[in-house]
Amino acid sequence: METPETQIIPMPRIGDKAPEFKAVTTQGNINFPADYSGSWVILFSHPADFTPVCTSEFMTFATMEGKFAEANCKLVGLSVDGLYSHIAWLRTIKEKIEYKGMKNVEVKFPLIEDITMEVAKKYGMIQPGESNTKAVRAVFFVDPKGVIRAMIYYPLSLGRNFDELYRALVAMQTADAFSIATPADWQPGDDVIVPPAGSCGVAKERMEGNEEMKCYDWFFCTKPISKETVLKTILKK
Ligand code: BEZ
Repeated sequence: METPETQIIPMPRIGDKAPEFKAVTTQGNINFPADYSGSWVILFSHPADFTPVCTSEFMTFATMEGKFAEANCKLVGLSVDGLYSHIAWLRTIKEKIEYKGMKNVEVKFPLIEDITMEVAKKYGMIQPGESNTKAVRAVFFVDPKGVIRAMIYYPLSLGRNFDELYRALVAMQTADAFSIATPADWQPGDDVIVPPAGSCGVAKERMEGNEEMKCYDWFFCTKPISKETVLKTILKK
């Protein structure tokens, strides 16, 4: 018989509405994703407070919070620790930890307490092959309409690359704004991919009168968009 322990909750997928929840955080109560309607939000989990990899991650993310805010993106953390643990850990980070030139780092974004693991389970953050009692390092990108647009999962031992999270955010916003796709390792200012032409003839037609477009074959065409144009569009909000 299925018990709450054995009940299988489907993992959220790209394109799904972000599962809804209400939670207590270090910045008060939140109603997710409704409270974030109109902005992008990154919901991310960490395994435990007072652990070194998580501390390095929080210091890095908190230091970059302004940069994410300029790109209309808010941050929300989560672990299965309680509120008083969260508060004590964040205070320790601010008052005691100096790491890689970062010090007096104040974490101003909300950190969810999830002792019951209700939210962590909804988001597939508890992965028993890795740990039954801690959330893995999950990252969910939720767009202004509350839709999951990307997700990344890392194991407990691997700290995340926050420049990559920022790159992914800007790339998705650029894809939305210009109806393009972004190639491997894309950074603002690099050429972008125009939607597949469909056939050789169409590619040729599209190139004619479009000096800027470059086709490597019928299915692979790029065009430039300047860094200035990308940043003006993304950072304007
Ligand atoms: C850490 O953040 O250092 C950590 C947390 C849980 C397991 C392993 C490492």
